[in-house]
Amino acid sequence: MLPRRGYVGRIMDDIIAARALHVLAVVIWIGGVSMATTVALPAVRRGDLGSDHLVAFQAFERRFAWQARIAIILVGLTGFYMTWRLDLWDRFRTFTFWWMHAMVCVWLLFAVILFFAEPLILHRHFRKWATSRPEVAFAWLHRAHWMLLGLSVVTILGAVAGSHGWTVF
Ligand code: HEM
Repeated sequence: MLPRRGYVGRIMDDIIAARALHVLAVVIWIGGVSMATTVALPAVRRGDLGSDHLVAFQAFERRFAWQARIAIILVGLTGFYMTWRLDLWDRFRTFTFWWMHAMVCVWLLFAVILFFAEPLILHRHFRKWATSRPEVAFAWLHRAHWMLLGLSVVTILGAVAGSHGWTVF
């Protein structure tokens, strides 16, 4: 017979659920960024998806942007929930937990891009730029994606290693 789970086991259930949702949302979101950076954007730039780079790019970007926005909300809610429930605020005072700062920075960066910059600024300006100088505009967009993916990968490595007790600093 399996042992009955105790009080401590039950009060940790919500934290386990929050962590599972946190990681799932990160996988969907950063996995999509990786796919866009390493597969879709190179295909768009080479013209494999048609001669109009902008139409090809928007066909997948429009659909993915909503998944990414929902994932960002979920990551933020579960992340701050865990921080509050486990009372981890002190971690933000020391560089040992640099990966906690990195998570919040990456989250903020993407949130500003996806909720403000992209719909309000980038859409209009990028469309003009991509129409007049597609090569330059998409090279810039690709570089920006590489930078965001790099920051996310370092953050994920740091968060998994750090939350399991590995300290670098
Ligand atoms: C508002 C932003 C965020 C907050 C407040 C937050 C908070 C947290 C907390 C409290 C933990 C558990 C730490 C522990 O158990 O010691 C965690 C784990 C983790 N977070 Fe975040 N996070 C945020 C955003 C992100 C982002 C943007 C990423 C990815 C780019 C990320 C990836 C991870 C990963 C991979 C883990 C480790 C899961 C595991 O190995 O069990 N988080 N986060």
